[in-house]
Amino acid sequence: MKKLYTFILISIIFFFSCSAPKNEVASPDGKIRLSFKIDDDGFMYYDVKVNDSSFIAPSLLGFEAKNGLNLKNSFSIIKTEFSSKDETWTQIWGENKTIRNNYNEMAVHLANEDSIFLVMCFRLFNDGIGFRYEYKVTDIDSIIITDELTSFNIKENGTSWSIPASFESYEFLYRTLPLNEINDANTPFTFKTESGIYASIHEAALTDFPEMTLRICRTTDNKQQTTDFVEKYESQSSEFKVQLAPYPDRKAKAIFTSGSQRSYATCPYNYSTLSFKTPWRTIQISDKAVGLINSSLILNLNEPCVLEGDLSWIRPMKYVGVWWSMHLGVESWVIDDRHGATTANAKKYIDFAANNNIDAVLFEGWNEGWDSWGGRQNFDFTKPYADFDIDEIMRYAKERNVEIIGHHETGGNIINYENQLDEAYRWTAEKGIHCVKTGYAGGLPDGHNHHGQYNVRHYRKVVETAAKYNITLDVHEPIKPTGIRRTYPNMMTREGARGMEWNAWSEGNPPEHHVILPFTRLLAGPMDYTPGTFDILFENTRNSPQRKKWNDNDRGNSRVNTTLAKQLANWVVLYSPLQMASDMIEHYEGHPAFQFFRDFNPDCDWSEALQGEPGEYIVVVRRAGSDYFLGATTNGSAREVVVPLTFLPENQDFIAIIYSDGDNAHWKTNPTSYKIEKKIISHNDTLYINMAAGGGCAVSFMTLEN
Ligand code: NOJ
Ligand code: CA
Repeated sequence: MKKLYTFILISIIFFFSCSAPKNEVASPDGKIRLSFKIDDDGFMYYDVKVNDSSFIAPSLLGFEAKNGLNLKNSFSIIKTEFSSKDETWTQIWGENKTIRNNYNEMAVHLANEDSIFLVMCFRLFNDGIGFRYEYKVTDIDSIIITDELTSFNIKENGTSWSIPASFESYEFLYRTLPLNEINDANTPFTFKTESGIYASIHEAALTDFPEMTLRICRTTDNKQQTTDFVEKYESQSSEFKVQLAPYPDRKAKAIFTSGSQRSYATCPYNYSTLSFKTPWRTIQISDKAVGLINSSLILNLNEPCVLEGDLSWIRPMKYVGVWWSMHLGVESWVIDDRHGATTANAKKYIDFAANNNIDAVLFEGWNEGWDSWGGRQNFDFTKPYADFDIDEIMRYAKERNVEIIGHHETGGNIINYENQLDEAYRWTAEKGIHCVKTGYAGGLPDGHNHHGQYNVRHYRKVVETAAKYNITLDVHEPIKPTGIRRTYPNMMTREGARGMEWNAWSEGNPPEHHVILPFTRLLAGPMDYTPGTFDILFENTRNSPQRKKWNDNDRGNSRVNTTLAKQLANWVVLYSPLQMASDMIEHYEGHPAFQFFRDFNPDCDWSEALQGEPGEYIVVVRRAGSDYFLGATTNGSAREVVVPLTFLPENQDFIAIIYSDGDNAHWKTNPTSYKIEKKIISHNDTLYINMAAGGGCAVSFMTLEN
């Protein structure tokens, strides 16, 4: 049977390879062009031109697999199909509720003599490209991928912003480095070429694969560097190759067996067939840095929402929580005389939320298991601590129209979590909780890493289980976002970078951190950074007799490395549909600048990054209903930005409340100096914003009733 099949296949290949199809596709505006080629040995390559200049020089495609399975060469093109799409779709929450999806697609159908069928699907948008592999292998029980050959051969040198590659964590400081000095990096990997093109390499729709990172490719025996086909192109400055997070044996990267097949299309032939689609490999491309932020490419490459029925349980919220006190060391997660999540404290936070236009309250340290944190980590997700009366707290919160955010710290013990998963979410929903923060602070069992296929499957299982019980998620120590929030809008926000917590117990995040995040990590999706610390120097807690050091990074000199106005601005700049005011509520009581958070609406309809450069500064505006919110932030340098208010509708007056740095503010020496100004303004006005070193400015524009 197999022989007959191979004969038919060879005939098809021969017939179609004689017709030499054209394998080039351009973006709708014609500025980005991609071509696909195979060489004499049937290895596959793509290259990309931007504005007629080479941007990605010929770069290898394909995979290595176990047991002699040839997923990388001897390929011939059977046919090439072209199609286009221009549609507008809507989402129930997001930076923008309405999104245009406009691309040209080229699907190259290939096959080789080893009975491998492959569709290389390329999509070109005006804001970048995406491509993925769709393999079908007949007569096989399992496919074990051992390496991905995909490369990004970046033609020019330039400047890049990235964190190092790690399959365990994203909580690192960003590096600003010339492209040719990068050894490895995680994605989104953002860079600007010498000729001024901004780009960011990432992936979309990572649902059943290990994560990809990038490593500079220097091996001389690499097929890409020895082939005649490539040699006629000049040598490149920076060629990055994909690295996939491995299974514990370090060799297998992705495993597909007949049991693991989900809803992928089946092969039209009557053989036992395995098929898999990779996530999209993406490059966002723009001639402006803010163009990367204003791109919806990652979402456009994900599947539409699969949740049906009334989705009103999914909604953006502002929240406070019993959280910062633990990180500062003045309260504890574990039940003892410093316990934070007590019924009395819970009621205080609920009252504060109800009185300050805040939707929800988070409680960490509410359940049994914290005494084993860092050890065996067997948390119980349905057993509240004895001093946390959940039924009374839920009754109290409901009466005041305040939502409660649950917390599942797993400590990385996936097995313990999966054993309780369904029951934990059923119980949580039954209590009346519609949102859960999860966490994975700790090593995974059996040598698995946080970002491998095993854990990607776990994260997806949690999203699906939460959706079954109408629960939204905020995931800490997550897999990086790749746009699956479009398919599962209950997957609302996540950490996946150094957030506010690092300021509580380490040297903290430097002023440039918050103006790199929007051009890197946040291109992938929302982040639960948790801005809003007002007691910047920890004056009220540093010398408290309650305070106990709990983190090894704590040298006793931690602080927040921004001005107060920048804390407000970060609520706008660092997009999250669940936006936290992170400080202890005592530090907000009676503080005039807290009015900004009271007025702020996280449920925005439209957003635009107006100006900015990675690592330098950024200005973002968002509209929520008829109100607008603007955030501007800078790195360690003071600067003035000029912002024409042309984004406001014409012929309408707004009351603008401007929260800016005080005249002598400086993040290091005078961080809490701020001023508040009120003005009537309109579309024709211009804002001149002066930001202190490490500072920022937040503005709310509220409609003036006529
Ligand atoms: C790390 C999370 O990022 C943080 O928000 C949480 O408080 C701790 N883990 C404890 O769960
Ligand atoms: Ca964390």
